[in-house]
Amino acid sequence: MYCKRIAAVALLASTASAQTFYDVIQQQPTLSLFATIIKNFNTTFNEIISSISASELRTILVPNNEAVASYLRQSNIRSAAQISSEVVRPFLSYHVLMNNVSSKDFSQPGGSIVESALKDPEFALLKDNAGQVVFAHKAVEAAQQAKDAAVEVKSGIGESVRIVQSNIQFDQGQFHVVDGLLTLPINCSKTIARRGAERLVTYIGRVNLLDALDGTPGATCFAPSDAAIESALPVLMNLTDAELVDAIKFHTLLDPYYTKDLTDGQLVETALAGRSVRVNIVGEDYYFNGVKAITTNDIVRNGVAYVLDGQRSAKEHDNNKECHVDKYRYEHKYGVRGDGHLSREHCDRRRRKWHYLYANCKWHTEWCR
Ligand SMILES: *[C@@H]1O[C@H](CO)[C@@H](O)[C@H](O)[C@H]1NC(C)=O
Ligand SMILES: *[C@@H]1O[C@H](CO)[C@@H](O)[C@H](O)[C@H]1NC(C)=O
Ligand SMILES: *[C@@H]1O[C@H](CO)[C@@H](O)[C@H](O)[C@H]1NC(C)=O
Ligand SMILES: *[C@@H]1O[C@H](CO)[C@@H](O)[C@H](O)[C@H]1NC(C)=O
Repeated sequence: MYCKRIAAVALLASTASAQTFYDVIQQQPTLSLFATIIKNFNTTFNEIISSISASELRTILVPNNEAVASYLRQSNIRSAAQISSEVVRPFLSYHVLMNNVSSKDFSQPGGSIVESALKDPEFALLKDNAGQVVFAHKAVEAAQQAKDAAVEVKSGIGESVRIVQSNIQFDQGQFHVVDGLLTLPINCSKTIARRGAERLVTYIGRVNLLDALDGTPGATCFAPSDAAIESALPVLMNLTDAELVDAIKFHTLLDPYYTKDLTDGQLVETALAGRSVRVNIVGEDYYFNGVKAITTNDIVRNGVAYVLDGQRSAKEHDNNKECHVDKYRYEHKYGVRGDGHLSREHCDRRRRKWHYLYANCKWHTEWCR
């Protein structure tokens, strides 16, 4: 038995480590602050670690000393020893991820979503009581310079950290050193308000849908930016509350769709019965019914949010095609007579209306299939 164990350890020495997580991090001077936190909250940390089934491995994101020091400064906490346990538990839980995930696994095309041990209902409201997730992807700017581009990990309120040292093995999995602390997710309305869609939240509040938006487990919210709302104001002002409710439902999906779940040309059903949204992917950009997302994968308590910029698709050619394809429906609906082609003017008018589609979903579905 003893011999067998030695042999197994020797075999794994180049890949896995027989050392515990604490043993490995306490040997690294640049991780001493996190090691202190783990030591001080040994029981809490062990509880978090064992909340993941024993048969599974774990991946831990370890903030380096600069990251912890800067967090302490910002939070007015004098030393790592003074952090309170209520504060520590959700933070530590969010930094413990399920499975044995290497930095290569993180940087799949389209990014990857990894579940964490964070299940506190204040920060995680997902289907089947699943743990909150992080979104990891290869940082775009760095990708152009280095083959070995940095992996970015996105957490709550649109905040990201970078992996600065990766794939360090311990007995139950591996860890990656990050240059900041993950940000605990907050609910959708608070997130989009902080991300440039504050005016939308006012409309959602007006029709009492805030609780539905923030309290539905596992959802996607599309949030037209303040500028998009501004340009849609003439239409928005005229909407009845019932129409506004429909428009908001049209901007909500009843499952969390992270970018890795989306494919070009896909139709996704919205919370407004029978109405779908079309997804287009152009390079690194995501479009929903031709409207570009200016933020993607903003992790929120109950799923994910995208802020939309209110510009129509860059696919000029496709728009023209749609004008043509839709002409009969248009003529039927609006009684426009002509030579069988929509004039340039009609196309232009249609595009202007496209801006209003956020506010008027009926208009939208008549036009944008
Ligand atoms: C975790 O995955 C790495 C490859 O990324 C592998 O080398 C290592 O052995 C795995 N760890 C365990 C404990 O199985
Ligand atoms: C933490 O607690 C476990 C058991 O509760 C113990 O085996 C381990 O040595 C402790 N680690 C530290 C760093 O105190
Ligand atoms: C959303 O967050 C805000 C601020 O924390 C809170 O006041 C509100 O009750 C939350 N809504 C839900 C449905 O949890
Ligand atoms: C909004 O309603 C007013 C008054 O009924 C009308 O004059 C205006 O044209 C409407 N605006 C839009 C964009 O439909």
